[in-house]
Amino acid sequence: MKRSWLLALLLCAYPLDGSAQAALPKIVILATGGTIAGSADSSTSGGYQSGQVAVDVLIKAVPQLSTVASVTGEQISNIGSQNMNDEVWLKLAKRVNELARTGIDGIVITHGTDTMEETAYFLSLVAHTSKPIVLTGSMRPSTAISADGPVNIFNAVAVAADAKAQGRGVLVVLNDEIHDARSVFKSHTTKVSTFKSGDHGLLGEVQYGAITFYRGPPALHTFASPFFVEHVQTLPRVDIVYIHEGVDGGLIEAAAKLGARGIVTAGVGNGNMTDAALAALAKVAEQGVVAVRSSRVITGPTGRKVEVDDDALGLVASYELTPAKARILLRLALLTTSEPATIQALFQSF
Ligand code: DGL
Repeated sequence: MKRSWLLALLLCAYPLDGSAQAALPKIVILATGGTIAGSADSSTSGGYQSGQVAVDVLIKAVPQLSTVASVTGEQISNIGSQNMNDEVWLKLAKRVNELARTGIDGIVITHGTDTMEETAYFLSLVAHTSKPIVLTGSMRPSTAISADGPVNIFNAVAVAADAKAQGRGVLVVLNDEIHDARSVFKSHTTKVSTFKSGDHGLLGEVQYGAITFYRGPPALHTFASPFFVEHVQTLPRVDIVYIHEGVDGGLIEAAAKLGARGIVTAGVGNGNMTDAALAALAKVAEQGVVAVRSSRVITGPTGRKVEVDDDALGLVASYELTPAKARILLRLALLTTSEPATIQALFQSF
């Protein structure tokens, strides 16, 4: 009698019709390219070409995925992320929001590491869902000795499939680390440990699918965002001007002449710049260009009225956002307003 009960219990847990796989979380992998899809002529070559391998090959290379989720893949693009652009961003954002409204449990996006932090932060402002959205990539091509792509994909899918990842915004998972989209930045040109999160530290860690979360994201995101791009075809032009010793206002003036509706300065220290550059920035601000002071210093806030009278000059301070992320928030803000005070409030919330 006992054996038949045991068999019945086992069949409930592991039915022979494969429905155990059907019971796993449904994860969609959206592939965009990058080194994770890269290949090289030699397994020890430092040189390679990114965006060469298709999403179904990436999935087949990690058969262990079937132990953590039911995975399907879609190819959004296959480019090196240095070539990431508004067309792919808007296509990705629209597909993420479409998928989020279906019965799937989470989304993983494979992406180059060069601009991963930008795409992650962009999606954290335009993806209206509490379902996990996890970006991952690799620093070594798929053909390299100890390629890091497969384990990064496995960990990213495990995080996206974890109910505890819901509501934590857009995440970046590489090198056994979980970062939030707003804090993460690429800190080294070649190391697999390149992604850091500065003053906020890791959002969590994951080792072969075993996940620990330490905290939530440091600001509003995703479902709390007021930015919608479903009907947007183009995003406003915003340029970044790098500040250095002796810089004049030439590139600031040139950006305005090119039609920039916003300018972000990557300033020295607390968003500082030469008097000549500041005069040019104040002038374009007076002409209606929204001017945001950020800093080339990778961590720490750029605050209002530290050494610059932002009130008098009509400038916005980026606070913790790096120049690249300040540009993203400003582009989305400019879809609905060009009022500096309104935009400053957004910089202190997202
Ligand atoms: N071509 C760069 C990119 O696609 C390589 C960096 C990488 O993916 O690791 O971002």
